[in-house]
This record gives sequence, C-alpha cells and structure tokens, in this order.
Amino acid sequence: MEKILVEKSPPLKGTVRISGAKNAALPILAATLLGTEDIVLEDVPNLKDVQLMCEVLESLGSKVEYLEDNVLKINSSNINSYETKYELMSKMRASFLVMGPLLARLGKTKNSMPGGCAIGSRPIDLHLKGFKALGAEISVDHGDIGAYADKLVGDIIYLDFPSVGATENIMMAATMAEGETVIDNAAMEPEIVDLSNFLNKLGADIKGAGTSTIKIKGVKKLGGAHHQIIPDRIEAGTFMVAAAISGGNVLVDNVINSHLKPVIAKLREAGCTVEEGEDSIRVIANNNLKAIDIKTLPYPGFPTDMQAQFMALMTILEGTSSVMETVFENRFMHVEELRKMGAQIRIEGRSAIIQGVDEIKGAKAEASDLRAGAALVLAGLVADGTTEIGNIYHIDRGYDGIEEKFSNLGAIIYRKTF
Ligand code: UD1
Repeated sequence: MEKILVEKSPPLKGTVRISGAKNAALPILAATLLGTEDIVLEDVPNLKDVQLMCEVLESLGSKVEYLEDNVLKINSSNINSYETKYELMSKMRASFLVMGPLLARLGKTKNSMPGGCAIGSRPIDLHLKGFKALGAEISVDHGDIGAYADKLVGDIIYLDFPSVGATENIMMAATMAEGETVIDNAAMEPEIVDLSNFLNKLGADIKGAGTSTIKIKGVKKLGGAHHQIIPDRIEAGTFMVAAAISGGNVLVDNVINSHLKPVIAKLREAGCTVEEGEDSIRVIANNNLKAIDIKTLPYPGFPTDMQAQFMALMTILEGTSSVMETVFENRFMHVEELRKMGAQIRIEGRSAIIQGVDEIKGAKAEASDLRAGAALVLAGLVADGTTEIGNIYHIDRGYDGIEEKFSNLGAIIYRKTF
C-alpha cells in the first residue's frame, strides 16, 4: 500500500506551474465522442481520472494516443459501442459524462451508475431530466441507466440546481438535436465555458456559456479541433493556500486570475498579501493570519472544491473561523482526519466551526476524497512531526505530480510503499 508522507516543512518558496484543469479535461474528453475527425488536446493533466476517461473512450472504439506529454490525439470516427463497462464507470463519477455525447451521436447509451468521490448522495436526476426533455426515453435496470431516442429535439430545460455535470451533459446531448435547446439556471463554471469553446471549435453552435442561460442550436455533424485545456483553478488555489499555511511566498504560474476571485479575496481577508500578475498570482503569508468565514456556492461563489483546503488553513488561524457547505451534503469527512491532528473543529449541520490552535501534530490520516487528501497534505506542512496519508489514489485522481510540485517549493513530502 502506498502512502504520502509529509514532514513539517519550511515556509514554501518559489514558482509552481499549474496544470490543465481536471474538471475541464474530463468533459472535453467525453465530448471528443461527438467529433468525426482528429482532435488534438493540449495541456491535458497527467491524472488517474484522465487515464480512466481515456480507457472509457477506447472501450467505446475511439483511438487515443499521446503525441507528447500532456498532448492527446483522439479520433472517434469509428465508435462502435454505446455501453460503458461497470469496472470503468464505478471508479469515476465523471464517466457518466459520456452519456450525452453517445445519445447525440448514436441515439442510445447504457451505463452503470457512476462512482467517484463519496461526497453526499450526488444524484443524476437533472442529467436525466435534460435528456428526457430532448425526447429521450430513460430506462433503469439493475443499476444500469439507458437513454434512447430516434431523434432528439431542442427544448427549454430549467435546472433546479445549477449542476455542473448536468449542464455539460445536456449541452453535449443537444449539439446535434433538431432546433434550439435552452438551458436555464445553467452552471456558470469556467469549465463549462471551456467545454462550450471546444464544442464550437468542433462545429457546434452554442452561445451563453458562462451565464445562467445557454442556447444550443443543433447542427448536423461535428468535426475535429485543436484545443488547449484551461488551467486548473483548484490546483492553483491549493498551492495558494499552501503558501499561506506554511508562512511562505509562492508564485503560482499559468492561472486565469478571474477564476480565482473568491480564493484571492479570502486569503486577503486572512491577512495574506496577494499580488496579481497577468497570468500568475503571488501569495505572501504575513504574520498572525486571522480567522475567516467561507460559504461554498456555485460559481462565481466560493468553490466547494477549495473548502477542505481552506479548512486545513483555518485550523491554525488566530480566532474562530467557519465553513458553510451549501453545494454538497456530507462534505465534511476531512474534519475527523484534521481532528486527529489536533484541530479543534465542531460540526453544526451544514457548518463547521474551527477554533484556531497554536500547533497541530502529524498523524496517520486517510484521504476520504480528492480535496480532503489535498487538505491533509497542506495540514502536514505545518504539523509537528510526520503526517502519513493513506487512500492516496484519491489524490492521484486530481493532482498532477503533487510530490514533485510541493518538493520544488521546499516541502518535505514523499511517497512510501508499506
Ligand atoms: C463537478 C466537479 C466537482 C465539483 C462539483 C461542484 C467535475 C468532473 N466535477 O461535479 O469537482 O465539486 O462540480 O462544483 O467537473 N445534483 C443533483 N442532481 C443532479 C446533479 C447534481 O441534485 O442531477 C446535486 C449534487 O448532488 C450536488 C450538487 O447538485 O449536491 C452539485 O453537483 P454538480 O454540480 O452536478 O457536481 P458534479 O458535476 O458532479
């Protein structure tokens, strides 16, 4: 069994280059199923989830090859299956994103219920509501979900919650539907904009991505494209918090600053100096950082995917901080692990109250999900002694070269097989 070990480290210093965004790469990889010509994707992060999505594509008949590190060439002109395998689907929730493209391309798709991080119940009712509105029949049989349609026809779809995955899946399903599809109360995340830009390069006609109303005019066919994945705002945010928690001075390079507004604002509120360059952000941790409050919300609010990392920081901030999680139920599994390290946290419903302590201590802890794992790495940087993190496949799902990037900034972090 592999673990990541983190020792109390000096203040982090230096520059870290941010990789392409996992949450942009996964839907775009799924969307390659819509194209009938060569597609080249640059800045594809080297992650377990990306490998899994490539395996899903290959299992459906796509040709996937690396032209060089982080550059993928995909050709889906001859996809020959509409069913995804349970072994692949069960490992990653995002594999469900192939449903929309398969429905659009082949008029049918069958998948087992998606897996992934165990954060809340994470239903898929909104994805299915969208497919139904476009004219698909949905079947549920022994945990397999099927969608079938002789013809998809555009409609107006109101999402009860601005779900990222549902917005993406419906957008992809609608690309070749007859007439116009309107998604109201759509998610506005930057990754949706990246997917829309990619689909438009393939020949789709999508307007309004990045706002709450997305309009998709159906086209007959989608072709090929060359596209660069946007930088990962969550990886960037994680390193920004690393600078803060370690008392360091780190330049986070290859970022789109506007995607990081809530993270920048909250670090400034805590007392950090944050200097914005053109496509980089420097975080300098000053002495005596103060308690802050955060509330997670859909974009452009504070991202739920940064909640655990900020909680790690809050454990040592002077005063009482709070976190309110409104996007997912049950996304506080990291609380127990941080408590093992001496953090003073109590949960009240959807909120966590964190009383800052002078010192936390290394402990054996488990990464219960991807961002919870990142939070433990961050806490480990300042904890006295060694923090031993188990279940690290969660971390590998979402962080490209995590030990290398942290080591280059002076962190003491390594992987060990037990
Ligand atoms: C995506 C991200 C994930 C991030 C999340 C919220 C990817 C691959 N993953 O996940 O990292 O944490 O957005 O920013 O991009 N919901 C429903 N019905 C549905 C779909 C969702 O009720 O049909 C609920 C979920 O249970 C959850 C909330 O909506 O409470 C948000 O989920 P959603 O935005 O869909 O997240 P994902 O797309 O799964």
